[in-house]
Amino acid sequence: MNNFEFINPTKIIFGKDTIGKLENEIPKDAKVLLLYGGGSIKKNGIYDQVKTALSNVEVIEFGGIPANPEYAKLLEALHIIKEENITYLLAVGGGSVIDGTKFLSAAAYYDGDTPWDILTQNIRTEKGMPFGTVLTLPATGSEMNSGSVITRVETKEKLAMGGPGLFPQFSILDPQVISSIPQRQLANGLTDAFTHVLEQYMTYPIGALLQDRFAESILQTLIEVAPKVLKDPTDYKAASNFMWCCTMALNGLIQKGVPTDWAVHAMGHELTALFGIDHARTLAIIAPSHYKYNFETKKEKLAQYAERVWGITEGNINDKAYAAIDKTEAFFHDLGIDTKLSDYTKDYEGTAEEISKRFNERQWMGLGEHQTLTPDRVEKIVKMAY
Ligand code: NZQ
Ligand code: ZN
Repeated sequence: MNNFEFINPTKIIFGKDTIGKLENEIPKDAKVLLLYGGGSIKKNGIYDQVKTALSNVEVIEFGGIPANPEYAKLLEALHIIKEENITYLLAVGGGSVIDGTKFLSAAAYYDGDTPWDILTQNIRTEKGMPFGTVLTLPATGSEMNSGSVITRVETKEKLAMGGPGLFPQFSILDPQVISSIPQRQLANGLTDAFTHVLEQYMTYPIGALLQDRFAESILQTLIEVAPKVLKDPTDYKAASNFMWCCTMALNGLIQKGVPTDWAVHAMGHELTALFGIDHARTLAIIAPSHYKYNFETKKEKLAQYAERVWGITEGNINDKAYAAIDKTEAFFHDLGIDTKLSDYTKDYEGTAEEISKRFNERQWMGLGEHQTLTPDRVEKIVKMAY
């Protein structure tokens, strides 16, 4: 096992009817900017619950943060934060609203030329404006981590940022919010969380027995609850397990002491930036090709995953490892998620070259757990995913 340090300061408030507990978490003298997305919270009752809980605090609202939070839109919110002397941010939404709020938390205290530098120059945020979240969509884990991904439509870019100052102070997770989530977003959430675990597991064995079993248990639980959540999003037992899996998949715990990959995400983000494909779907497009291309270096963990998660006992290590890739792809299909780029766009020619060129320009010369995934290799993987 590798050496590691672990800190996660986010307070989680989990369970039925917990949104009202907001009242106890935000300082009474705070001036709050309440941030939300396209308006789903006004239809499903979450907005009303939040407003009731905030009735004793001064609140200004900013709605309309789109999926794949857009830089230009966030600059409007940043303007309000400065004009109105906001002191506390509250994100009510899924990964996009939370990530947008993290960007604002960083940008509010940033005194460089333009906040876009935070993304292009990998500026880590040591201290951001304090914020909390009310999670409405389990998927990204953003509610309990310090990362964020911001999109800029103007330049078709989607870039990541983060730093120890960007953990939410608290996150409220009421699984009842799942009942209003459309099937497409439920499938996305299951796929995103599943792939988060794979990115931190599908590398090479390092004798981290507990981390492996943490990861496998999240995968098994997601497989178990997926059909139940899709069939009946009001099934609280399934919903609560789904929600906690998504948080645990990317709150830092399972990646401690083990090698991580994250190349599927790096390539996937480009597909969202270029074609607007939902984040989770880009992962389902790239992952099978990534595992096939890197088969030799990943086959031990692939075979372990085959045995422990999918119960595959037949054949040699290669047979099991291949079967595991097929099982993974079939799982995505069962969720209603297509796994080829050509399923999403007819305009895919040249995509692999474009992504490889971008990685070259950013000098991303070695992705993956061995830092050996050069842009020319990325090009091959993306082509395999056409
Ligand atoms: O905008 P509204 O109207 O709220 O509707 C949203 C949106 O259309 C809707 N929705 C959310 N909760 C709902 C609901 N509809 C009905 N009932 C509810 N309770 O769902 C749609 C998608 O929301 P979004 O926040 O975009 O989805 P998700 O949580 O999947 O977030 C995706 C974003 O997170 C980033 C992705 O790149 C993408 O930009 N990621 C962030 C990560 C992180 N910070 O750690 C890691 C991930 O790998 C990922 O990259
Ligand atoms: Zn993801």
